Amino acid sequence: MKYAIETSALTKRFDDFLAVDTLDMKVKNKSIFGFLGPNGAGKTTTIKMLTCLIKPSSGTAKVGGYDINTDPNEVRQKIGMVPQLVSLYKDLTARENVELCADYYGIGEDEKEDRMNDLMELVDIKYAENKLIKQMSGGQKQKVSVVASLIHRPDVLFLDEPTIGLDPTTKMVLWDLIAELNDNGHTIVLCSHDMYEVDMLCENVGIIDLGKLIAFNTPQGLKDNLIKQKERDLLSQKHILGKIPKEFEKTIETSKLENSRDVHHTIAEQTDSTGNMGLGEDINLKSSEELSFIQEKSKELSIMINNLDEEMVEELKKLDIVYNVIVNDNGRLTVDVDKFVDDGLNNVIQSIVKNNGNITSINTKDPSLEDVFVDLTRKKIVDESNIKEIE
Ligand SMILES: Nc1ncnc2c1ncn2[C@@H]1O[C@H](COP(=O)(O)OP(=O)(O)OP(=O)(O)O)[C@@H](O)[C@H]1O
Ligand SMILES: [Mg+2]
Repeated sequence: MKYAIETSALTKRFDDFLAVDTLDMKVKNKSIFGFLGPNGAGKTTTIKMLTCLIKPSSGTAKVGGYDINTDPNEVRQKIGMVPQLVSLYKDLTARENVELCADYYGIGEDEKEDRMNDLMELVDIKYAENKLIKQMSGGQKQKVSVVASLIHRPDVLFLDEPTIGLDPTTKMVLWDLIAELNDNGHTIVLCSHDMYEVDMLCENVGIIDLGKLIAFNTPQGLKDNLIKQKERDLLSQKHILGKIPKEFEKTIETSKLENSRDVHHTIAEQTDSTGNMGLGEDINLKSSEELSFIQEKSKELSIMINNLDEEMVEELKKLDIVYNVIVNDNGRLTVDVDKFVDDGLNNVIQSIVKNNGNITSINTKDPSLEDVFVDLTRKKIVDESNIKEIE
């Protein structure tokens, strides 16, 4: 079996509201798949259909080789589910809850004890096995939920925001567990808003928005697409800019947004020991609140201009989207640009070029999966180029 999950025009309506809209998506067998999307995008609804908790309005899906419409019982045997909101019996203990699950799946008495003990030890919850669920902390309940979902060795495990509210150490235990389960051949579907977690664990990522699949690729593929998109935007601005310096065009076309080794000595000589050129206010006077605001809201660009002057720096500082400009020792500019503005980079370049600046290199930090998520979900349009056919 090549795909653990294969949806065909999977759709869910709640009265007039279309929560999941003709979703076509494939999840490779034995992979970890990240299922992302803004709040209310339709992730949990999709998972509920795939786990046979609710019926699709139309369309269907195969999970573990079985059809969710025609063979729901077979599907249920193949899957495990850690729901977004823990659904355990509050008046029973951890162990009683897990045992109930084991019995539901018909696990034999001889195997049951060992399996329950092993799993509880694995996620480190055995010490609290006799505690009532209602007396447990959020993280403890989450662990019991994971144990219960794994008791019957499901082929496909659905985890709907499993690490939300977990402390960093427990989170890591769960990440290790997810990786280990995957090594043992389980397919994992991970719904999460934690982009670090998804980037680290997932082979492929699907992003849905308003019930539609808007992106499907590897995490790196999504990041590469964003870089290419930004580069295309830059090149398409050429006619507006009029005069992108030759060196810069080359830099973009060859995708070598690397540091220039061409240090401009005149500028370097003008800088003082703090790295300031004496242009504008002293950047060291920024308060820690201001700096953390800048870090949160902005993206850092590093720009080399071989004829940098005071006016260029002043003009850059006037841009609404620029939070901070630092002139470094070697004449390289570090510019903090609002990361939520689409054409921030273009505006910076336009400003420099308008002031006859000759840009020799631009270096942007690689986008994170979070940058990709924000970019794609802000556009509200489906661009097929972001959906990669799975090999
Ligand atoms: N039983 C229901 N009746 C009516 N509308 C519903 C129902 N369940 C979900 N919805 C709606 O469907 C949409 C998708 O909800 P869903 O829970 O799938 O979102 P999600 O992507 O999981 O979001 P989150 O990240 O917040 O968990 C939402 O607008 C929600 O209000
Ligand atoms: Mg949800």
